[in-house]
Amino acid sequence: MYHQEFIPKEAAQNIESGKVSWQSPSNIALVKYWGKKENQIPANPSISFTLDHCKSITSFKFSKKKNSEKKSAFDFEFFFEGKKKADFEPKILKFFERIEVYCPFLRDYKIEIASENSFPHSSGIASSASGMSALALCIMEMESILFPGTSEKYFKRKASFLARLGSGSASRSIDGPLVVWGEHRAIEKSSDLYGVTYPYRVHEIFRNYRDTILLVDKGEKTVSSSVGHDLMHGHPFAENRFNQANENLEKLIPILENGNITAFIEIVESEALSLHAMMMSSLPYFILMKPNTLEIINRIWEYRNTNKVPVCFTLDAGANVHLLYPEKFENQVLEFIKNELVAYCQNGHYICDQVGNGALKIDNP
Ligand code: PMV
Repeated sequence: MYHQEFIPKEAAQNIESGKVSWQSPSNIALVKYWGKKENQIPANPSISFTLDHCKSITSFKFSKKKNSEKKSAFDFEFFFEGKKKADFEPKILKFFERIEVYCPFLRDYKIEIASENSFPHSSGIASSASGMSALALCIMEMESILFPGTSEKYFKRKASFLARLGSGSASRSIDGPLVVWGEHRAIEKSSDLYGVTYPYRVHEIFRNYRDTILLVDKGEKTVSSSVGHDLMHGHPFAENRFNQANENLEKLIPILENGNITAFIEIVESEALSLHAMMMSSLPYFILMKPNTLEIINRIWEYRNTNKVPVCFTLDAGANVHLLYPEKFENQVLEFIKNELVAYCQNGHYICDQVGNGALKIDNP
């Protein structure tokens, strides 16, 4: 099933060469996506805060193939932080093949892709959301040069659609500050195909919300997200989990509006632990948390109870812990991190981020 809306209808302009560049952030899910159907359709809807500092910066240099050159194959090279990275190319090739029907022009050009991350490469932070969304945005920028007149709405929607085909969570990185991906009856215009900006009122307490990422384990994950998603097929708790995510997203609507932080914390922490509970109860089962992940969680609970500071945690598919809290508690929470939590971070490392507004085009790349 192809989505006609995203297939170019006209012939492309005759453009010889060009260079485009975008930066795109990472995001952190409040209600988690875990489990998918065919063609990267999520088994349940998810919602995330777009981040600000953790981002990928990607550029695309393209030049038209000569008539004698093979048009049937993709021709590209990938450079990461200035160095050619051939081991990443099969992943990009798979992505290009997946999106080829929507971007047939990619075959007509030789493409040099150069990417870098604002966060340390081996930080254990998933770079697929920022990396894939930045790549999708460069492809869309190229498309808008070849097919002038693209509206901003179409541009962003198709960028999110393409990003989703690279990595599901990447569909939520195009815009900010809160993005929903996956159809939910309570969220107008939500779609399984692309992310949409959360359309309802959001209390000011959530403005400039902080996310400090404690780097517990910087190593490669032992089980990839795609394997984890797959293990939701035939998982004994799958249906209940998908229902729970749908319910949690609906419960968040009034909470986001009225700023009920206690209720917010309950949903966010429960979502993080439910995600990891799915990993621990799949077959084969696996654990991505480390002892220090649990130490940090316990310290957060203790600190929150004692000091009445509304800081909570969430996790993605790894051992690192994201501390989420309102801007006005920043000094206190940073003090708490330095005094109590840094000891559990690998080499004492953590990254301070906050909610952001989405991807940005880089002019004159
Ligand atoms: O985008 P993927 O396929 O890497 O999946 C990411 C899944 C989680 O990060 C665990 C949850 C989420 O919704 O971001």
